[in-house]
Amino acid sequence: MSAQAPIRRITAPQIRARKGGEPIVSLTSYHAHTAAIVDKYADFILVGDSLGMVMHGMDSTIGVPLDLMIMHGKAVVRGTQRALIVVDMPFGTYEESPQMAFRNAAKIMKETACGAVKLEGGARMAETIRFLSERGIPVMAHIGLTPQSVNTMGGFKVQGRDEAAWASHIDDAVAVAEAGAFALVVEGVVEELADRITAAVDIPTIGIGASKKCDGQILVLEDMLGLNPRVPKFVKIYGDLGPAIERAVSAYAEEVKDRSFPTPDNVYK
Ligand code: KIV
Repeated sequence: MSAQAPIRRITAPQIRARKGGEPIVSLTSYHAHTAAIVDKYADFILVGDSLGMVMHGMDSTIGVPLDLMIMHGKAVVRGTQRALIVVDMPFGTYEESPQMAFRNAAKIMKETACGAVKLEGGARMAETIRFLSERGIPVMAHIGLTPQSVNTMGGFKVQGRDEAAWASHIDDAVAVAEAGAFALVVEGVVEELADRITAAVDIPTIGIGASKKCDGQILVLEDMLGLNPRVPKFVKIYGDLGPAIERAVSAYAEEVKDRSFPTPDNVYK
């Protein structure tokens, strides 16, 4: 019997090499079993800090602790074999200094066995991105609408409606690409700006609410499945699972009330 070759995961350099090529498919996932389904179709899976809002009912991502990201990161790595797994660095774990960012990114990578981390911010994070990349940590950057800055942005607002702001977003994109980021999430920007950012950098841009002018797309899985009560307006619902879950739960509740549910006596005969 011949030994089976191990399935190799997609790597950060492979994602980087997809600039301008076949569009990159990505979704978030926080859970081993749904990640196993996503793994068949996605090039990379993001364990996003959006899990604070989507899974844990928080109002923003600000309160998400590092240990929670590591716990969900481990689950997603366990459930998958093929996709690159990227884990978000939560607010307060990387901004202070490149050294602090390295300590926390290394902890995420050692404990979850993910293949890359993501952090938010443009030019101001370039030094940190360079520090991490030069020390063996692939970094995905994230610019435009950066949810961890919700308090300074004054809400979750589309960026670049005013053309005067475009230059600073493009400068951010160029700075993180030059610093060594292997890909760049561009969130909540107008189409023309997404187009210009994509043209300005030699790494793939991954859009979310940023039009089709990017090299790939990412959505929050629960948003596109109709499982998040606060779905952003730009999200297309591909499967409305909320009502299906409600139907199943109410059918179950009725059966329990009727005492018609299966019991060990009639199931295990
Ligand atoms: O946390 C997250 O899910 C993200 C995506 C929205 C890109 O950062």
